[in-house]
Amino acid sequence: MASGTGTLLESLIDRADGPDAAFEVMAVVVDRDCRAASIAQRHEIPVIVCRVSDHADRARWDEALAEQVAAVAPAWVVTAGFMKILGPAFLSRFGGRIVNSHPALLPSFPGAHGVADALEHGVKVTGATIHLVDDGVDTGPILAQAPVMISPSDTEETLHERIKSVERFLLADVVAKLVTRGVVIDGRKARIP
Ligand code: GRF
Repeated sequence: MASGTGTLLESLIDRADGPDAAFEVMAVVVDRDCRAASIAQRHEIPVIVCRVSDHADRARWDEALAEQVAAVAPAWVVTAGFMKILGPAFLSRFGGRIVNSHPALLPSFPGAHGVADALEHGVKVTGATIHLVDDGVDTGPILAQAPVMISPSDTEETLHERIKSVERFLLADVVAKLVTRGVVIDGRKARIP
């Protein structure tokens, strides 16, 4: 599931197409026109477009989204730059099987502005977090993290690009491991055995 330039999606497709493929990208879900949809088309992966504006309200959108993804019957759902909060219908159907990549070291700097918030706060190290999605905003059990140093000359754009290059590797790596090994949840903690 993606809403943007789709470079994280591209890294998943590349991994799926590679020699050590552990998973297949069965479909790409977008909520708007975006480069991620074109990338999927180029790779002949089915694209599902589910826009909030095509539905009576957010709850109906959430239900339609859940229905359309369920029709694909994926083992795992990956939100790779999907810029909408998933609702209760989607979470009740796919809860525990949704993986998200976040451009900060959670629990610091959750939400849509994690890169800008880290810069603003003046932290010297930020990074990437891959986590399971729960009903909070970037609060689900953490699967993997990697640090990225902040340089005094960084802008939000330069820092985000460096974080994304880490996210691309980490996300594909975690998805490959999840698909083959599953995950063990122990309270707030998640572990890939
Ligand atoms: C990533 O930093 C992701 O964590 C954030 O949006 C960015 C997506 O990048 N939520 P892209 O669209 O895959 O290039």
